[in-house]
Amino acid sequence: MSFIVAIDGPAGTGKGTITKLVAEELGLINIDTGAMYRCVTLDIINKGVSLDNLDAINEILNRIKIDTKNSDGNLKFFLNGIEVTNDIRTQRVNELVSQVSHIPEVRTNMVNLQRKMAEGKKVIMEGRDIGTNVFPNANVKIYLDASTEERAKRRYKQEQEKGSNITYEEVLKNVVFRDQNDKNSSVAPLKQAEDAILVDTTTLTIPEVKEKVISIIKEVLK
Ligand code: DC
Repeated sequence: MSFIVAIDGPAGTGKGTITKLVAEELGLINIDTGAMYRCVTLDIINKGVSLDNLDAINEILNRIKIDTKNSDGNLKFFLNGIEVTNDIRTQRVNELVSQVSHIPEVRTNMVNLQRKMAEGKKVIMEGRDIGTNVFPNANVKIYLDASTEERAKRRYKQEQEKGSNITYEEVLKNVVFRDQNDKNSSVAPLKQAEDAILVDTTTLTIPEVKEKVISIIKEVLK
């Protein structure tokens, strides 16, 4: 029997970091669905396909192979056999991924794959629509949120650490743009599931969020 923890919320709430830490501590398989949409986006960019060329996108979806490997606690991503862990986090992918994730064919394909990946397993799956759409009957549903400015600050810090020279204003603009795209989509819009537990991370440290999430999961397991 599967055991599913769904972690949803907008970009910059620390979902990736928290999911990884909780997965390690509780022995759950970590599935990063945002990275899956990023892999599709990268494949589309690499093949020079335009977003309105549905035939070519379907061709990509029919052939795509996305694999993950856990190496020293870090998730590595492979697209069609080639490691793309860093390539899926570039500015170009950041700019296009929201649009790609709103193509209905892309969503259907990825959601089917996500359900298959979790079959019979104990997983913690992070994304936007896990508790509302991918696993409406998930055992635990958590919605992580934080103020827009705090999320932009966190992203900006990550960019600086990577050596990027993007400004805070540009990062903020990107976060606002992606939020709008994610929340106002006609296809699986980002929203908190009615039965999800909200964790506002604006003023919390990573260890504090981790403890909160673990205690919510343990409460369900009791
Ligand atoms: O979490 P992230 O920033 O890596 O996600 C990348 C994009 O993919 C983001 O714009 C939202 C989209 N996404 C989605 O539509 N559904 C998911 N389950 C996960 C991500």
